[in-house]
Amino acid sequence: MTQVNPQLSERRVLMTELLWSFGVGVLVVAIIGMVLVTALTMGVNPPSNVERIDPKTLHLSGEFAEQNLGTTVTSDGIIARVIATQFMFVPRCIQVPEGRQVTLRMTTPDVIHGILVTGTNVNTMVVPGYVAQVHTVFTRTGDLLMPCHEYCGLGHSEMYAVVQVVSQNKFRPDSNGRAVCAQR
Ligand code: CUA
Repeated sequence: MTQVNPQLSERRVLMTELLWSFGVGVLVVAIIGMVLVTALTMGVNPPSNVERIDPKTLHLSGEFAEQNLGTTVTSDGIIARVIATQFMFVPRCIQVPEGRQVTLRMTTPDVIHGILVTGTNVNTMVVPGYVAQVHTVFTRTGDLLMPCHEYCGLGHSEMYAVVQVVSQNKFRPDSNGRAVCAQR
């Protein structure tokens, strides 16, 4: 039977602990360094595009004033503008045509929201201070649910809109290029 030297075994325990502390220390420094380097060199961006807007005044004038919200057909294509706010989307329904490129542009005056349109590739965050932009083509007609998918407060679960996809011959914008949802 071999006699264990208590002095030696305590020394070994200490060395093992120091070795692991050193290893963990190196990893922590490496991870913090990686976070700092990527943040400083690659930029810290919201999803989609980097386009700033003042959340305090966006409703007063400019692109996201009330009269500009909803779907508009312009020379740049079909653009649907929506404001996400606690706890609703304005407007609550947007009409878009099937089979044509649509640009969704969204922003928020309050907190971070998120949107997705069920059954499509539309999925983005809506971050205060930025305009979120998504391009898509809706491939079938019908009413698609667009819920908020980022917890934004007590009314989060009640926050949704509807995307009304209509066939191209039913998509009839008015003389100003504006299209609104048909009564459902
Ligand atoms: Cu807006 Cu959740």
